[in-house]
Amino acid sequence: MHELYEMELASAEAALMSDTELVRNAGYFARVGNDWIRHFLICGGEPLRLPKHSSSQLRSFFQANQFRTGYATHGLFPYRGKFHPQMIKGLLNAMGLRPGETVLDPMMGSGTVLIEARLMGIKSVGLDASPFCRFMVQAKLDALTVPLKPLQTACLESRLVFEHFTKRAGQARAGSKARYHIPAGPADGAFRDGPSPFTYDPSFGALPGGCEVAAVYRFLLLAYLDSAGYSERSERKAPFDQFHSILERYYFVAEKIQNVLGGFESEMAEASALQGDARNLPLEDGSVEGVLFSPPYSFAIDYLENDSFHLGYLGADLESLRKQMVGLRGRSLREKFDLYRQDMAQVMAECARVLRRGRFCTVVVGTNNNQLSKILGTSPADVTGIDQLISDWAGCCGLQQVRKLSRQIRGMSNTLRTEYIVFLQKC
Ligand SMILES: C[S@@+](CC[C@H](N)C(=O)[O-])C[C@H]1O[C@@H](n2cnc3c(N)ncnc32)[C@H](O)[C@@H]1O
Repeated sequence: MHELYEMELASAEAALMSDTELVRNAGYFARVGNDWIRHFLICGGEPLRLPKHSSSQLRSFFQANQFRTGYATHGLFPYRGKFHPQMIKGLLNAMGLRPGETVLDPMMGSGTVLIEARLMGIKSVGLDASPFCRFMVQAKLDALTVPLKPLQTACLESRLVFEHFTKRAGQARAGSKARYHIPAGPADGAFRDGPSPFTYDPSFGALPGGCEVAAVYRFLLLAYLDSAGYSERSERKAPFDQFHSILERYYFVAEKIQNVLGGFESEMAEASALQGDARNLPLEDGSVEGVLFSPPYSFAIDYLENDSFHLGYLGADLESLRKQMVGLRGRSLREKFDLYRQDMAQVMAECARVLRRGRFCTVVVGTNNNQLSKILGTSPADVTGIDQLISDWAGCCGLQQVRKLSRQIRGMSNTLRTEYIVFLQKC
């Protein structure tokens, strides 16, 4: 433990949970009496297996953060702005969520909340406007239980698997800004009007033995898209070699978590990953016992630009998607910020509506007051940060701020150094 917010979460766990609950779900303890905590067992052993060419900086980041990030299936696919999974475990506990209850993440991104909740026996619903997020989260949830044998075959026959996806997705051009050549066929995505990436379709053609199971297919496809992203950014490795080493790493991740979970599979909870709009949630009033999420930090990251190849591959229409994405609507920065405020006020109202009375909505958010001051034409000291705006909008719809913690952002390529954890309670 290095930070105050971690001490706070650890004391909340100690105060709110019985010994049995701690052994099963605590995030900030190693053992209770003679019993090892499950989180400690999940994170133990060899950390995430990184590609051989990974920098020493990346290696030491994962070593230093072995209990914080990169464990279970969280390390599959490098999604920008993803949560810190150990913190999510601590927050779910501090929010008083217990097995059998339901948590919502209305902007799930790479699905950190859903994966943690599933491991902890807490039911979850997640939404994201991006169809790629829905696909990625489903693949990462599946990876907790995906059959390993066909994956072994796929590793041995990785050339065939690579050729299969290359035929459908196009050949990666290493280091090319031109991205990919999408092969003849539907110009804007292999899956538009065609078979869904969520189920294996025989017209995909033959894959090595046993790889036609939908969960296996999704796992392999995620590894392929991940490797294509690397190839796009760097010429260091040929695309096939990149795919092969990522597939081996993915296999290692699935095997490792399944070894620890062996015998506990039935304790995992259902998780439902949906594509949808957080401004208009498809849920009943008062139907969830917790809401936990992180919105885009105004317009720091263009998620569509980041994932354009993957979205194109899944047949998404980027222009109509842009109209739904919080933080991406509008032309000038000023207009973008106005629409961001309007959209986020609506998201907070929806969160308040679906949350059960007395329970908590927790928002993790950063604010770049320097950037905002330029847009608003004021000094940074006069800017109301996004964390405060969230609290103000929440207050208008019956969510009262009960606590706010700050934490340092440790990721390697972040421009923001601090983010806030805003705890809101439904009156
Ligand atoms: C900061 S990221 C969330 C990261 C996530 N906590 C994780 O662990 O990966 C914010 C997400 O909000 C999504 N988003 C933007 N507008 C949305 C909308 N209207 N409805 C649902 N999701 C939206 C983006 O696609 C992005 O994945």
